[in-house]
Amino acid sequence: MRIFIIGFMGSGKSTLGRPVARAMGYDFVDLDHYIEQQEGATISQIFESGGEANFRALEHRYLRELVGRDNVVISTGGGAPCFNDNMTLMKASGTTIYLKQEPELLASRLENAKVRRPLLEGKNHDELLHYIRQTLAQREEYYEQASIVVANPSRDAQRIINILKVGTEKY
Ligand code: S3P
Repeated sequence: MRIFIIGFMGSGKSTLGRPVARAMGYDFVDLDHYIEQQEGATISQIFESGGEANFRALEHRYLRELVGRDNVVISTGGGAPCFNDNMTLMKASGTTIYLKQEPELLASRLENAKVRRPLLEGKNHDELLHYIRQTLAQREEYYEQASIVVANPSRDAQRIINILKVGTEKY
């Protein structure tokens, strides 16, 4: 079985993906981290040198590589489901889980995050909130296709583990 965790930047994909994988006895792969390892460059460096289009091409290439693995939880970058038919690919390859968070919570998490995110560089609070609202509105049509939608997930992975065990469709 393959589980994909999707959602906006700051929604907790890696934080929750890791314990979910542990509880299922699966491997955990963070797609952005995998891209960085394979390319020998950080996501910011990849954006700087080749722009977003090049990053999206790499994201698609490495996602295709990872869907060949079994017993794995894969957390993707926030934009991955929305480009290059990646959502179709993930849905055809396993269970997709959308971590649905409110824009205000995402903004406060992203403001406090240590990781550099090229799409958010230089934004003040109002600009960040506006960007999140606008981008979420565009991305939700992809995110909402997930087989499981978890609204307002906390940092506690147990709820997601229970959902996966029960196998219920929408939460
Ligand atoms: C992106 C999200 C990032 C990373 C890249 C682009 C996006 O991942 O893939 O900076 O388009 O939302 P996280 O969601 O893990 O921050």
